[in-house]
Amino acid sequence: MTLERTFIAIKPDGVQRGLVGEILLRFERKGFKLVGLKQLIPSRELAEKHYGVHRERPFFSGLVDFITSGPIVAMVWEGEGVILGARKLIGATKPLEAEPGTIRGDLAVDIGRNVIHGSDGIETANFEIGLWFKSSELNDWNPADHCWRVE
Ligand code: RTP
Ligand code: MG
Repeated sequence: MTLERTFIAIKPDGVQRGLVGEILLRFERKGFKLVGLKQLIPSRELAEKHYGVHRERPFFSGLVDFITSGPIVAMVWEGEGVILGARKLIGATKPLEAEPGTIRGDLAVDIGRNVIHGSDGIETANFEIGLWFKSSELNDWNPADHCWRVE
């Protein structure tokens, strides 16, 4: 395992439904470290860059409409294996196929309203962190209980 950082965003539906605290709780309780957090309404340009890999897909413009429709909570989390670990906490893209116990499995139904985004690999994570955050917005810090989590 290696120390990684990943980009996580609570989408507009998650913010509107009052799920920010519930989602933060799950990442904190797992033991990942929050190193950056802000709320913003994404511009169309930013959303199109973020989901650029899906540009040719039929759902692209609807996805961009949705993600720019209100505030999102953008975050960077750090930890051993956090990229895959966060995807496991999040669950499958289609919430009805996501396992109970995951965020999407517990809190969502519709694929177009699946509450949360997480980077899907190391290169995507680096690209997305750079897209959404300035390096001055990310903090290096050591949790006081670190020695109780890792040997
Ligand atoms: P995300 O990027 O948002 O974390 O989701 P993901 O990796 O689990 O899924 P991805 O394939 O990257 O799709 C991005 C988002 O596009 C919407 N989507 N709609 N209607 C459809 O067939 C369809 N497919 C994907 C979903 O909201 C998905 O989260
Ligand atoms: Mg994705």
